[in-house]
Amino acid sequence: MEEVDAPVVGHLEDIPVGEGRAFAVAGDQVAVFRLRDGSLRALDAVCPHRGGPLADGLTDERVVVCPLHGYTYDLATGQEMSSGATGVCAYQVSADEGGAIRIGPRIAR
Ligand code: FES
Repeated sequence: MEEVDAPVVGHLEDIPVGEGRAFAVAGDQVAVFRLRDGSLRALDAVCPHRGGPLADGLTDERVVVCPLHGYTYDLATGQEMSSGATGVCAYQVSADEGGAIRIGPRIAR
């Protein structure tokens, strides 16, 4: 995983494996997901449909499902997969050897 050069927003121990947590980043909320293979993904934390908390959604290695109405977002790109609705932004994210999580710039879709 390529290291992101940005302020630390949290630690790996804050995120159980297979779950997500929201962190404040420059006034925005970004959801960081810790996948079962150990990798991280980061998306806008607020579902654009009706504000659902994406960090609380169910994930697999590829997508997160919004807990409110089931819109499904690609964890790598933020694209909405279930209905073609508006997607969310995806961000670069990394953790260093000590588990410090950094969130970088948006990933262009
Ligand atoms: S608020 Fe996320 S699908 Fe409706």
